[in-house]
Amino acid sequence: METEEFVRRIGDWNGAGAGTLGQRLALAIAGAVDAGLLIEGDRLPPERQLAEVLHVSRPTVQAALVELRDRGVLAARQGSGTWVARSAEVATAELAELALGGRGINLAASVPADALQLGDVELSVGDLLAAMPTHGYAPLGLASLRATVVGWLAERGVRGDVDGVLISHGGHGALVDVLGALIGPGDAVLAEPYTYPGLLDIVSALGGAVIAMTNDEHGPRPDELRRLVASRRPAAIVVSPECNNPTGRAWGVDRRAELIDVLAEAEVPVIDDAVLADLGAQTLPVLAADLDAITIGSLSKAVWGGLRIGWVALPKGKARQRVIRRRRHLDLGPSVPSQLLADELLSRLDTQLPARRSLIGSRADYVRERLAAELPSWSVGDRDGGLSLWVDLGLADAEAFVAVASAFGVEVFPGSRCRPDGAADGHVRIGIDRPTPQLDQGITRLVRAWATLRRS
Ligand SMILES: Cc1ncc(COP(=O)(O)O)c(C=O)c1O
Repeated sequence: METEEFVRRIGDWNGAGAGTLGQRLALAIAGAVDAGLLIEGDRLPPERQLAEVLHVSRPTVQAALVELRDRGVLAARQGSGTWVARSAEVATAELAELALGGRGINLAASVPADALQLGDVELSVGDLLAAMPTHGYAPLGLASLRATVVGWLAERGVRGDVDGVLISHGGHGALVDVLGALIGPGDAVLAEPYTYPGLLDIVSALGGAVIAMTNDEHGPRPDELRRLVASRRPAAIVVSPECNNPTGRAWGVDRRAELIDVLAEAEVPVIDDAVLADLGAQTLPVLAADLDAITIGSLSKAVWGGLRIGWVALPKGKARQRVIRRRRHLDLGPSVPSQLLADELLSRLDTQLPARRSLIGSRADYVRERLAAELPSWSVGDRDGGLSLWVDLGLADAEAFVAVASAFGVEVFPGSRCRPDGAADGHVRIGIDRPTPQLDQGITRLVRAWATLRRS
């Protein structure tokens, strides 16, 4: 069938609906089959032409055709193209649910799926009046929550003091608080070769440049770090020894000891981004237990990102004064209701972490097993903690796969965006902290997307 005629028969397909373009296109084709506008045996135009005329990517067309083949509406054979195989009655209802209900699966974000982990938390006006009898502004955060953070630090080996703690808008806000005070245009910041992508954005917005260390399987290489400190004279060093995002790896114990010496000699502010520290196999000492480091924490990963509560713990010294002064000038402090909830959640966190860790561990095992069985050419990295798996697809660049997966209704995060140099990278980060049905459906879509990428 001519491409224009086919497009006329499927009609206005790209209307409202929260589903992916591929799902909406599949629904339109199934609808045309249902309505008798396309009948058994009708041949579809070639994928490439369809993509051109419909102004969509080829993976979008492929995703639509795969959906319909899986449901028996279309059939295809190598070399003979694609044709209508049967009436679409059953498929249309299912496709409508997908295309209109928006069942895109987000495995790109390395965060808890939703607020369920909050459990039973309550907050009354009486609680607010008791915590904050006056106007409600506290630029550094509530004193009670800052004291609870001091307790969190103590459990992780650090003797902190309330005056050195400020409550931030999540871990991201904590990085802005600290780096905003310590670096400026032209400054270099050393970070690990794969790092939290938000760090790259923050440093770039401040006019600085992130320089990558060289890592091996145990963490940054001490000799290389020493060399970089001497040659680049960084204004700050940001690391995540307890658990790196995106790799999910912790530094080896011996390596950590060696690096502490190198970092101490560097005489540069060291920031331990310990946002994922609670999600390893056990509670580890943070870097500030052994070094004058700034610690950043957050409830986003252990509990829920929507709280937007994190913290900065600063050792005594010049950096503390600068960070606190900047904060007082630029920010009137986080939401009091969120801080009160956070205080309760943080106070009971340590009793809840074992169950949380074991749930995440079993989700990681589940995803790992399915990937090993269904995508054996992928290589899934070892995981010490965190909310994702770091997967080497065996490609020079994973971006094309990420686009195809998105057309198939599943988002994963490309490794290149975690690299300070922004170079092409064959890894993707796959979020695992999701209920099993979401993981199941997400992996099924990844498998289909991979098969499509390999065919094209
Ligand atoms: C290492 C690291 N730092 C900071 C953040 C930001 O934390 P939040 O979501 O609490 O702003 C994240 C979240 O992905 C992270 O992984």
